[in-house]
Amino acid sequence: MKRLVLLVTITLACGTAGVWAADVIAQRRELMHADGIAAKKLFDMSKGTVPFDLAVAQASLKTLANGAEKTPLLFPDDSKTGGGTAALPAIWQNKTDFNARFTKFGKDVAEAIAKTKDEASFKDIAPKVFENCGGCHELYKAKSS
Ligand code: HEC
Repeated sequence: MKRLVLLVTITLACGTAGVWAADVIAQRRELMHADGIAAKKLFDMSKGTVPFDLAVAQASLKTLANGAEKTPLLFPDDSKTGGGTAALPAIWQNKTDFNARFTKFGKDVAEAIAKTKDEASFKDIAPKVFENCGGCHELYKAKSS
């Protein structure tokens, strides 16, 4: 009987962990998706293909700040596969570097929020923000085919 209880407990625990893993994958992908939309607006304004708008720039930077803060918490050990994830195993082999990149990303975004006062100051700082995206994806995200 004790054994059965134990077995049921383990099964339930695994089941919960499975749901939790799928959930964090969906959450981190959603945050990154929001980063992608915000970054597109920022990128277009930095290239001048879309007119600069201070409110849009600041709002988009805040989306990135939110992502930089929350995304690194969404890579637990049991979320390496599933949920259509593009996360590479290298993340879990280099967790310190991976997390440090999110910290740097957050710092650069905070600097951009502080320094963006007008179009010129925005264009000056924007590239520093974008470098973070490609740098991390290169090492830790599977290329989309
Ligand atoms: C420190 C690492 C890191 C940084 C910085 C980073 N990303 Fe990501 N990004 C990832 C990882 C890892 C994934 C894959 C997540 C998954 O599929 O589980 C991802 C996925 C994405 C996706 C796909 C989301 C989806 O729909 O699945 C987009 C879009 C994206 N990132 C945009 C950006 C943009 C834009 C920036 C910069 C403003 C950025 N990322 C910065 C690590 C990073």
